[in-house]
Order: sequence, then structure tokens, then C-alpha cells
Amino acid sequence: MLGSDDWPIAREVRLRALKDSPSAYLSVYEDEVAVGEEGWRERFTRMRWVVARHEARIVGLASSVRVADRPPYERHIESVWVDPRHRRTGVLREILAYLAAIDPGVTEWRVWVLDTNTLAQQVYDRLGFCPTGERQLLPDGSGRREIRLRSGSPRDPGELAVPTQRPGR
Ligand SMILES: CC(C)(COP(=O)(O)OP(=O)(O)OC[C@H]1O[C@@H](n2cnc3c(N)ncnc32)[C@H](O)[C@@H]1OP(=O)(O)O)[C@@H](O)C(=O)NCCC(=O)NCCS
Repeated sequence: MLGSDDWPIAREVRLRALKDSPSAYLSVYEDEVAVGEEGWRERFTRMRWVVARHEARIVGLASSVRVADRPPYERHIESVWVDPRHRRTGVLREILAYLAAIDPGVTEWRVWVLDTNTLAQQVYDRLGFCPTGERQLLPDGSGRREIRLRSGSPRDPGELAVPTQRPGR
């Protein structure tokens, strides 16, 4: 897990991710490159940032965050990325296991995935995530939607059918 003084590392890998896989994220490189130390240190107050390393190189990134008005046993996973040369070798699986290990009280992990990102949907399916039934149209006019996934079994099965609105990131 990175500490707040490691913000330049998180920033560098996040920018690599946005350059490598722009269609996987709502954020765009041009906006993120403008976020400096203050913005990154603020992110570290709200989010945990973890990286995966292979030898000396960082090959994966993810963050997790508590969402306002959500219960403490739930966290969201964001900014997920694995270096293309290291994909399909279990890096994301290890990152998720690590996130779970540092937050043992969390029993539900949630993630928003773009409906156009079918690969990530397949991957999360393999990792035991399933759709909550929540979908949100992006406000950018692209017609794309975000689909919300969750791991673990629902505490309230009725919740699965309830669509919610959420502010864009
Ligand atoms: C999605 C992504 C993070 C997956 O990372 P990864 O390290 O390759 O995933 P893992 O190796 O841990 O694989 C996890 C499971 O998904 C499966 N999987 C991985 N890539 C797959 C693919 N291209 N097609 C089908 N299944 C795949 C693996 O086989 C594994 O399942 P298994 O253990 O039952 O065999 C990576 O492809 C990536 O960075 N993509 C671009 C950015 C992105 O889409 N991020 C997600 C934003 S929500």
C-alpha cells in the first residue's frame, strides 16, 4: 500500500494507465496530468492506493474508497489497471486479495465498469463479481453507461433490483 508521500508513484502509474487504456476510464489523461501534489495528497486522505510490483517495476494499480452514505462494510474499487505485459498472470487477483487483507471488515467490494469494457466485465465475472442491476448513463453524450458490480452475496436481495443515481466521477 502506498503512503501519502508516495503520491508521485500513484500519479505516474495512473497516467500510464490513462495513456494505455483511455477507453476503460471516465477520467482523461489531459485532466489528470494537471492534478499536482495538493490534489494527490487530498486523494490519499480518502482513498487507499495499492500497486503491484514485478521485480523493480510497478505493473498494477488500484484504489479503494468509502462512498458517502454507504455502509462501512462496503468499499469501492477504482483506477484498476495492469501493465499489458503482465496481464492474465493473476496481478489483479492479487491486488484484490491484498485490498481485502488490509480491510478485513469489508465484506462487499463494488466497482463501476463501462458497458463498452466487455473484457473487464469478463475479468470481474471470473473474480466472482456480479451485476447489482444499477446502471448509469454517462453525461458526456456518448451513450455509454456504467454498470455496477459487486462481490459477495447481497445482504438484501431486494436491493439488486433498485437502480440508483450517482454523481459522475
Ligand atoms: C482488467 C485488467 C485489470 C485485468 O487484470 P489482470 O491482471 O490481467 O487479471 P488477472 O490476471 O488477475 O485475471 C483475473 C481473472 O480474469 C481472467 N482474465 C484476465 N484477462 C482475461 C481476458 N483478456 N479474457 C478472459 N479472461 C481474462 C483470468 O483468466 C482470471 O481468471 P482465472 O484465474 O479464473 O483464470 C487488465 O486487463 C487491464 O488493466 N485492462 C485495462 C484497464 C481496465 O479495463 N481496467 C478496469 C477498469 S474498471
